[in-house]
Amino acid sequence: MRVFSGLQPSGNVHIGNYLGAIKQWVGLQRGNDALYCIVDVHAITIPQDPKELRRATLETAKTYLAAGVDPQKSTIFIQSHVPAHAELGWILSTLTPLGELERMTQFKEKRSKRDAVYAGLLNYPTLMAADILLYQTELVPVGDDQLQHIELTRSLAERFNNRFGKTFIIPQARVNKTTARIMSLAHPGDKMSKSDPNDKTRINLLDPEDVIRAKIKSAVTDSGNEIVYGPTAKPAISNLINIFAGVMGKPVEWITRESKELTYSEFKNNLADAVVQELIPFQQRFNDLKEKDVLSVLQAGAQKAAELASSTLKDVKKKIGFVL
Ligand code: TYM
Repeated sequence: MRVFSGLQPSGNVHIGNYLGAIKQWVGLQRGNDALYCIVDVHAITIPQDPKELRRATLETAKTYLAAGVDPQKSTIFIQSHVPAHAELGWILSTLTPLGELERMTQFKEKRSKRDAVYAGLLNYPTLMAADILLYQTELVPVGDDQLQHIELTRSLAERFNNRFGKTFIIPQARVNKTTARIMSLAHPGDKMSKSDPNDKTRINLLDPEDVIRAKIKSAVTDSGNEIVYGPTAKPAISNLINIFAGVMGKPVEWITRESKELTYSEFKNNLADAVVQELIPFQQRFNDLKEKDVLSVLQAGAQKAAELASSTLKDVKKKIGFVL
């Protein structure tokens, strides 16, 4: 199957991104034809610091590689290296009713947090649709905050196909049930987020061991003292169980069975051990990567992606009446 996904290079890649998205990507490499993109064109929909964007873009590429995305199996590239994304994004924006964009939850959330909002932020989902549709993608592995964007992508593809003839494959989202929405360690009602000003709400993939342990130790828990799963009654413990299950690659039931006799603090110690065991080797691989090797992976990836993208874009242009 053709698989496509991406992550915004906005710093602070956290365990929610890792468990909700990147770990799924690694698993999907076998037997599929996957493209994993660093979506810098999306990252500028809110004002950026140029130096920081460059740093975060390369750091995100290193994160993919250190997490196990293998350039021999998957195509890894930077979105701005393939101009077809912006071109198809523009074309799709001319087919998207304004009201549909204004209704997007992520747009409304981001808008409510800022004084100035630019047109690019509203158009964010049409660019994301272009990312996916350019590659005739069948499967899009994401966390559940992206489902609404993928729904819009599907309806844009259907609309285009109906109006201009069959052009795009209709993609499907793929979420991992237990890790589709990892919550904040401090406010289990909110999603763990890169942009939360309180760093203690998330475990960043590059946090040192003592910081990881301290953050887990200070994570809020629910009333009572039993390790039982129930996202409504026990949202905080259930979130920690989801993280544990995701890191171990085990079902929730396994974690709760193994942890039945434990106190909250013993459970948190075990969880911290598991997270440290997953992230410290990741960090070693991350630190061993050389910028020039990363750049050469990205260059080869962009070349391959551009070839794939150009055939869809050519077809689209012909169908809508552009002179080729
Ligand atoms: P971004 O950069 O916000 O997040 C990258 C991936 O991480 C997932 N994620 C989470 N999963 C579980 N729990 C969380 N707390 C959590 N926070 C984030 C996201 O769902 C996502 O899968 N618009 C996208 C990037 C994008 C994209 C695409 C994705 C651009 N084009 C095409 C797929 C296909 C975004 O902002 O992700």
